[in-house]
Amino acid sequence: MRHTVGVRVVFATAELSPVVTVGGLAAAAAGLVGSLRHSGVHVDVLLPDYGGVDLDAIETIELDVPQWAGPASIKVVDHPEIGRIHLVVAPGLARSHPYLQPDGQGWLDNVDRFLRFSRAVAAYVELSHPDVVHLNDWHTAAALAALESPPPTVLSLHNLAHQGHGPGEWLERIGPRAAHFEWWGGINPLSGAIALADRIVAVSPHHAIEITTPSGGFGLDAALRARGSAVSGILNGIDTTVWDPASDPHLPAHFDRKNLSGKERCRQALLQHVGLNDDGSLLATVVTRLTDQKGIDLLMPSIAMLADLPMQLIVLGSGDRSLVDALVQAEGASDRFAFIEGYDETLSHLMFAGADLFVMPSRFEPCGLTQMQAMRYGTIPIVTPVGGLVDTVPDIDVDARRGYGIVARSPDPVAIMSALHRASRRFGQRRLDTVRKRIMAHDWSWDAPAARYRALYDEIS
Ligand code: ADP
Ligand code: GLC
Repeated sequence: MRHTVGVRVVFATAELSPVVTVGGLAAAAAGLVGSLRHSGVHVDVLLPDYGGVDLDAIETIELDVPQWAGPASIKVVDHPEIGRIHLVVAPGLARSHPYLQPDGQGWLDNVDRFLRFSRAVAAYVELSHPDVVHLNDWHTAAALAALESPPPTVLSLHNLAHQGHGPGEWLERIGPRAAHFEWWGGINPLSGAIALADRIVAVSPHHAIEITTPSGGFGLDAALRARGSAVSGILNGIDTTVWDPASDPHLPAHFDRKNLSGKERCRQALLQHVGLNDDGSLLATVVTRLTDQKGIDLLMPSIAMLADLPMQLIVLGSGDRSLVDALVQAEGASDRFAFIEGYDETLSHLMFAGADLFVMPSRFEPCGLTQMQAMRYGTIPIVTPVGGLVDTVPDIDVDARRGYGIVARSPDPVAIMSALHRASRRFGQRRLDTVRKRIMAHDWSWDAPAARYRALYDEIS
């Protein structure tokens, strides 16, 4: 095996923590880039310049792009936390939110914006001749249309529910390999990149299988099946220096698996923060985007029945109006349930640390980071049997000595309620410490996933 030290990678992403965060893509990109750099891989990370980064450029690189995509350039900055970033400046990229208008609808020109970003990525690849190109999701995928003989390329699929379909006129512009991107008369950046990338990586092994089936492929299952063994799954990691209960600055008390007493103080602080009385029952939390994917509607019947479990539940989330309204209404109807609307990073740390249980009722979940963040804080996950949740949460009732949590039979309201009942029977009187210590001992860091990506780079370069 060739040594990846010194290998030069161009890594393109629409999100990167802590600069631009919408979902887990930001944390996954930052975690992987950080870990690759740490092991000696040279990574140029390309991110759209949405306008929110107030750092002086240490260099400006003009890019040679067609008229529709330009003028485009790269502003190279050194970020105090994440290190060097190549910010792509192109028409339409700078916005108040990467994808959404203030009313929550997508920007009408999102396809145009990210096709320009992708074209700029291709121009930078032509200029810099990296050993490997690493693309992430549809926002970057069309770079492969413009490159006639690109370097070996990896495409990571974080969320196939978003594909960036656009009108067919784009096929005349995006480059010499545009034909691969034709999709039912229009353009689909992901369909082309799936056909052309050397390796396609789903963000968990189980999801790598799901996406090759009609029920899990979001219309791209046949395209993925056609790539055979070029498709694989690499489970994400989490940044275990940020997510560390022994030193987390967001917590009122610290703990580790040898001394869990600080966790009880976090529990008390959390209950107090949201205005719930401690009734001695199990405390479950949810930290999520409120979208169809996350299945909060599947949890609503259980919220109405919390008194029977018995359990207290706190949801922190932001997103779809209809889900927000339903949660506000449920809060009014129960003294065991609290809903905090918003995206609140500080509070999220207390939600992971102070809880006994963490619930993820996802309809689908390419990987999921929150169940790993919860387990890092000794909080036992209750999940649906989908995607990365299958890879990270072995069911305790299948193997009592090795289980990590409770897995519902399927992503539906009845199965989720029965999983909560199972949790309350098993962990009633809050007998949690054996499993807590077990899940806290697991290495959830990026070390192993980054080594797998390095092996993949090696294989293709
Ligand atoms: P997805 O990317 O599909 O939203 P992930 O589990 O991969 O799901 O990643 C979500 C990330 O965003 C996690 O780091 C989680 O802690 C964070 N997050 C999600 N919702 C919130 C919220 N309401 N407040 C704070 N952090 C949140
Ligand atoms: C997506 C998926 C999530 C995954 C994240 C990072 O947002 O919804 O499951 O963990 O990307 O790969």
